[in-house]
Amino acid sequence: KKIVVLISGSGSNLQALIDAEKRGELGGKITLVVSNKKSAYGLTRASEASIPTYVQMLKDYKAAGKTRADFDRDLAEHIETTQAPDLIVLAGWMHILSPAFIDRLSGRIINLHPALPGELDGAHAIDRAYEEFKAGNRSRTGVMVHYVIPEVDKGEPIMTQEVPCKHGDLLEDLETRIHAVEHQILPKAVCAVLESMK
Ligand code: GRF
Repeated sequence: KKIVVLISGSGSNLQALIDAEKRGELGGKITLVVSNKKSAYGLTRASEASIPTYVQMLKDYKAAGKTRADFDRDLAEHIETTQAPDLIVLAGWMHILSPAFIDRLSGRIINLHPALPGELDGAHAIDRAYEEFKAGNRSRTGVMVHYVIPEVDKGEPIMTQEVPCKHGDLLEDLETRIHAVEHQILPKAVCAVLESMK
């Protein structure tokens, strides 16, 4: 099974997928890593694992007078024509994908989001969970992997895990606890989805 991973940043979740593949626990092979940021450290992680990379940046499209839909359509086309993957994994991908992308690869896209279903959709979910915890309005948050549909972070959950907020936590304590759970849950979710495709 072929997997394409999309990243925008450090790629610690990509690294968890690479490590799981090395252990024979991913259920598939990562054949391409895509980033919308040239500086994403995850690109270095891919190269060090001999995985091909592809960078496509929105600012190039804007400079050429093209739209987000053009960007999304071209990216989906590139992924499909060069890889025809079984699964596309958004792992710290910070670009809202339009139907131009989702429809082309429909049913094969999953996303990692550091919150529980129906809570804290959208960006900065960890920060917002922490603020609510500090205000006494939240005692736990969580992580989910879900199918991607046009509504941001609203697709059917595949796997979720609660993460407790602890008395005295600083933001980085909660971030560390959440990322540790992400690194565990994402490879398991990828493996489960690929198994369900057999
Ligand atoms: C993760 O918390 C992910 O859930 C969120 O952005 C972060 C990306 O981390 N979307 P990394 O790039 O995988 O280290």
